[in-house]
Amino acid sequence: MKIVSTIEDLRDQLRGQLRTAFVPTMGNLHEGHLSLMRLAARHGDPVVASIFVNRLQFGPNEDFDRYPRTFEADCEKLAREGVYVLFAPDEKELYPEPQEYRVNPPHHLGDILEGEFRPGFFVGVTTVVLKLFSCVQPRAAVFGKKDYQQLMIIRNMCRQFALPVEVVAAETVRATDGLALSSRNGYLTAAERIEAPALAATLQEVRAQMLAKPLEMARIEREACARLEARGWYPDYISVRRRADLQTPSMVDLAAATPLVVLSAARLGATRLIDNLEI
Ligand code: PAJ
Repeated sequence: MKIVSTIEDLRDQLRGQLRTAFVPTMGNLHEGHLSLMRLAARHGDPVVASIFVNRLQFGPNEDFDRYPRTFEADCEKLAREGVYVLFAPDEKELYPEPQEYRVNPPHHLGDILEGEFRPGFFVGVTTVVLKLFSCVQPRAAVFGKKDYQQLMIIRNMCRQFALPVEVVAAETVRATDGLALSSRNGYLTAAERIEAPALAATLQEVRAQMLAKPLEMARIEREACARLEARGWYPDYISVRRRADLQTPSMVDLAAATPLVVLSAARLGATRLIDNLEI
């Protein structure tokens, strides 16, 4: 695997490649990330990964400084997956001057759910992803459903800017107890790690209840939040939305079995976890 840290070296390595499949990450790689590399290999060749902890998408009181950085171990994992090039720029390379041009996701997608609780988050994500796409020029790029809203916003960005990039969705990889793998799981204490699968279990309950009594959505959401609170969690939201546009389903949607997804974010101790489940 070639490891390149400048845009110029990246372009040299990829000159003439028309079928590149790209997987952007922030590093601290786990099986979820590695499953994306495998899926990428089915959608193009060569596979290019990036590791860049993107300051633009972190709020002032978020975990940018303590975000886990495990570069050596990450490189070994990517090499084992057969990744051809790892692009690992530093901040000076990707943001040599303040990034003043930014991508603004539309209010109805970028300021709901995660966007409501993390103002500016999706501006930071779409801006860096557009920039990474411009560096790598992939024909396909893989994103995890773990970050469902991110996937949808990037997909819409590509459509609206007519970017020649196929956005491929990867299923969420979970630990055997149901907890969705995440770099932030490493922040959990041993006791919190035992409690953490309750979030995924709650989403499973919401799914079962929605399939049985869809019209009672509001009560189902409310009671799910209350159950987590009773176990010591601080939920930001547990919200059933339409898969197609992440808007709240109408009574007609609920009666017509429109495809839905339940999305959630909740804090356990000092760690904020997100998860979702298609219904
Ligand atoms: P990061 O959190 O490192 O995630 C990189 C990719 O891995 C994302 O597409 C994410 O959805 C996917 N992923 C994370 N956990 C997963 C799991 N358990 N199963 C399947 N896929 C999983 O998401 C980002 O980085 C950044 O916002 C980024 C897109 C790189 C822009 O900075």
